[in-house]
Parts: sequence; structure tokens; C-alpha cells
Amino acid sequence: EAGERYAACGKIILLGEHAVVYGRPAIALPIPLAVEAMVRREGQGINIVIPRWGLEQPVHANTQGLSGILAKILKDLDLDRENMTIEVFPHIPRAMGLGGSSALAVAILRALDAQFDLGMDNSRINELAYECEKAAHGTPSGVDNTVATYGTPLRYQQVDGKPIFRDLRLTEPLQLVVGITGRESLTADTVAQVRNAWTQHPDRYNSIFDQIGSLTEAAEQALEQGKLGDLGDLMNLCHGYLNALQLSTPELEELIHIARANGALGAKLTGGGGGGSMIALCPDNPDAVAQAMQAAGYETLSVTVG
Ligand code: MEV
Repeated sequence: EAGERYAACGKIILLGEHAVVYGRPAIALPIPLAVEAMVRREGQGINIVIPRWGLEQPVHANTQGLSGILAKILKDLDLDRENMTIEVFPHIPRAMGLGGSSALAVAILRALDAQFDLGMDNSRINELAYECEKAAHGTPSGVDNTVATYGTPLRYQQVDGKPIFRDLRLTEPLQLVVGITGRESLTADTVAQVRNAWTQHPDRYNSIFDQIGSLTEAAEQALEQGKLGDLGDLMNLCHGYLNALQLSTPELEELIHIARANGALGAKLTGGGGGGSMIALCPDNPDAVAQAMQAAGYETLSVTVG
């Protein structure tokens, strides 16, 4: 039987990554149609297939990674004794800081919801996707799964361990170029690296998180007032702090340099860092910036938000 595909968004963190894990705010933007998933009731047991990654494997409770996480979710949903094939179509590169893992979870949950008439609303889907994120990387803030689910520009913060988020109103569409280093990076690793440093010198690192938090608050205003020059400055400053957290790499620095030299208003790493991707704010010249990055051998993604 031909199944239907269900989609979820990826994400770009505009400002606030890492600090958001410690209760400071973050601003996140959706990348539409990042992942699609389809569930068919067929075959023996439960299998997951991701043609683009050449992945095809049974879903088992005592396995690591995606299969193990899925097994847990299917058990929670009381679907673990069904026969089905879960097929996933990612349209963004994995492990590049663009929210692929959350998008994957949300798309699969939506496909399961439709196929088995589970009646889940976005809030339930978001909750379950957060559980997947926790299984994948320990102490996530919940920003990735929230954008993957709701697909709107958000201000996100954890207050007393509870997610508080609201839609941001943009005065005009935001033109961003994503520069992709090609160096895969696991958020679990960079989050653990920052936690390790914070544990040893909490005061030192808390003050950096405070600084990132106040840049993020200022960026929220700049965004809602359409002050893009200001927003660009705030992005540049934020990258300085992310660099202080040792999250940058030579490739990220090169891409950021190219973006600024070609007239981007601001540029910074985005997401977990340690590889992955960077973003450049380019209201007037996205093509020139993207071409300069490509000429240096990098893949790019042009995203218009709002
Ligand atoms: C990853 O997209 C964003 C981080 O702040 C981790 C998180 O919020 O869970 C690095």
C-alpha cells in the first residue's frame, strides 16, 4: 500500500546555543521540510529504512542509537508488537548542527500518529521527541525538538526545568546563508565538553552564559524591530563567546571570514559547533556570499525565514 509522507522542520539557532542548556534564552528558526517519514504496515517485525544513508535495520530494544531510541518510543506507544516499515527521507545533511535528529523523530512520530490513529497533538509529539533527544544526547535544552515540531521562529528558554517558548514576529523575511563545514559533529560531544569546563569553573562559565543570554535578548528586540545591522553585530559578538567556549574550528573560522569579507552583516557558528555549520546574515547579497563559500570548497544552503 502506498503510504503518505509526514514532514518535520530542521532548525537554525540564530543565537543562544549552549547557553540555552543552562537556562538562558535562545532564538531558533525553522528549516522547512528537513525530514519526511512514512510508515507502512508490512513485513515481519519493525524495520527502519533510510535509503539516502544506505541504512536498513530492524528496530530492537537493546540496540544503541536510532534503533534503540525508536524501540523505546514504540513501546511507550504500545506499538512494539506491530509489523511495520518506517521509511525516512532526510533532505538536510546529518550531524551538521541543523536539527536533523529532532526532525527525524518528529517526522516519524507524525507518520506513526497517522498510520495508527493515535490522536497525538503537537504538544504530545514535542514531548516524545524531547525524550528521543534525551536518549540521544543526555541533557538537551529541548529547543531543537520544539522548532522541529512547531516550525516557526521561536524564543525558547527553560525556566525551572520547564520549556517556555513563544513565536517571534519578524518584520521582514530573514535571508541567511548556511555554510556547511562537512565535518560531522555530535551535539552530545560538544555539550559534554562545555559541561565539563563549566563543572570545573562554574563562575567563569556562568558569566559567559550570561553574556550570551543578554546578546540573545538584544537580538530578539533587533529582530522584532527589523534592525538587521544590529542583529549582525550581535551575531558576531556571540560567535566570540562561542569561540571562548572552544566550539569553533578552522573550517568554521574560514567560512565566517569569507562571509564577513563578502558583506554579510554578521556570521557565527550555529548549533553544537565543533564542526557542523555556520550562518551568515545576508539581506542584500546571499548569492555572492554563497558563491564565495562554494569557491572555497564548501556546500551551502540558502534559507529565507518568515
Ligand atoms: C543544539 O542544536 C543546541 C545546543 O544548545 C544543545 C541544546 O540546546 O540541547 C548546543
